Amino acid sequence: MSLHCLVYVSLANQEMSDDHLKSMLQKARAKNETLDITGMLLYRDGFFMQALEGALKDIEALFDTISKDARHRDVLLVYKKPIKERGFEKWTMGFNKVDSKTLECLDGFCDFMARPTPEFFKYRASEAEALLDEFKHQIFF
Ligand SMILES: Cc1cc2nc3c(=O)[nH]c(=O)nc-3n(C[C@H](O)[C@H](O)[C@H](O)COP(=O)(O)O)c2cc1C
Repeated sequence: MSLHCLVYVSLANQEMSDDHLKSMLQKARAKNETLDITGMLLYRDGFFMQALEGALKDIEALFDTISKDARHRDVLLVYKKPIKERGFEKWTMGFNKVDSKTLECLDGFCDFMARPTPEFFKYRASEAEALLDEFKHQIFF
């Protein structure tokens, strides 16, 4: 299996309540389990960042489905690359709500803090990777 990681960012079409996010995650986790896909979803003020890990064809197919989901727009691929091992092996889809307090502790994320946009991450794959990495060990729900 050729293991890959794909990261994208997008903007929610409406503010997502915790209940909304929970029910979306419940379904996503069930499907990801059957596809052996792991990853992490970050959410802040209508902004999503998601990492999908698994077999290349599976994450590409899922990304295609997710891209067409009416719950968000401006879906922008940040990077897609081969990986030797999974970074989020524990999570069929980890989730974190990113707030200003959490970001205060992280250097270099001032722009993301002020105004998260897909455009910001267009040429900043390493920042996106570092941000996802920060939340690897703490899952919100
Ligand atoms: C921000 C966001 C992240 C999503 N993440 C996943 C995911 O990790 N896995 C998943 O199966 N569906 C995810 N979905 C939902 C998919 O877009 C889609 O509704 C779901 O896969 C069911 O598709 P199907 O009915 O074609 O099987 C996500 C949707 C959004 C808006």
